[in-house]
Amino acid sequence: MLKNGPAEFGLVTRVLHWGTMLLVIAQLALGLRIADLEPGLSTLWLYGLHKTLGFAVLALILARIGWHLVSPPPPPLGPRGPAFWAARAAHWAIYALLLAIPLTGWAGSSATGIDVMIADRWTLPPLVEPSEAAEAFWFRLHDILTKLLMALVTLHMLGAFKREMEGDGTLTRMLKGRTG
Ligand code: HEM
Ligand code: HEM
Repeated sequence: MLKNGPAEFGLVTRVLHWGTMLLVIAQLALGLRIADLEPGLSTLWLYGLHKTLGFAVLALILARIGWHLVSPPPPPLGPRGPAFWAARAAHWAIYALLLAIPLTGWAGSSATGIDVMIADRWTLPPLVEPSEAAEAFWFRLHDILTKLLMALVTLHMLGAFKREMEGDGTLTRMLKGRTG
């Protein structure tokens, strides 16, 4: 089944979830690596790769939001207690961060005055005027939001493992679509 059911995750949502996870983990690692580098001719390709993959994350999250308007995902399992609302809040916050992080990266990169490109091919319009102050501001925000994402995704993953070990099938449902 491609679409989500009232209590099932369809194939499209599951592929989007695990695909986004792989890209986001790669992006966090790559981002930390380039933040430690001196920009130069030999490292420029890593910046290019980080930007291209970052726009891929943005495209995936927009596709996911669009898909979930057409085919809403099932709510978290279990009663509507604190754990339910914590899971819901974490999911919403992750969505918000995955929109905000690429945009702050784009704004910071625009502020350097260098063209922002996807796959060395397509030039995107700058989001802000070039200035050192804007560059520092947007990259600082990019940095803070990525730390927040790392913390939330860690909690999200631990929550998923905890509930799976308690036997409610939360993780199985994101892997197979159904809890059993
Ligand atoms: C979901 C997507 C993204 C993730 C998870 C991500 C993650 C990160 C992380 C963890 C860092 C290191 C932060 C630090 O320690 O200072 C970083 C740096 C950076 N990111 Fe991203 N990023 C994403 C998208 C983008 C996009 C779309 C762009 C540009 C178009 C971008 C441009 C940059 C640049 C230029 C740096 C280096 C900043 C510096 O030298 O201080 N990022 N990113
Ligand atoms: C960067 C990595 C990740 C992101 C961005 C992410 C994001 C999300 C989001 C937004 C949802 C809500 C459902 C949806 O909208 O599709 C979700 C659900 C879920 N995620 Fe993740 N996730 C990540 C990593 C992981 C990892 C590592 C695991 C476990 C090993 C995991 C397990 C789950 C499970 C089991 C659900 C379903 C929860 C439920 O039934 O309510 N996720 N994830």
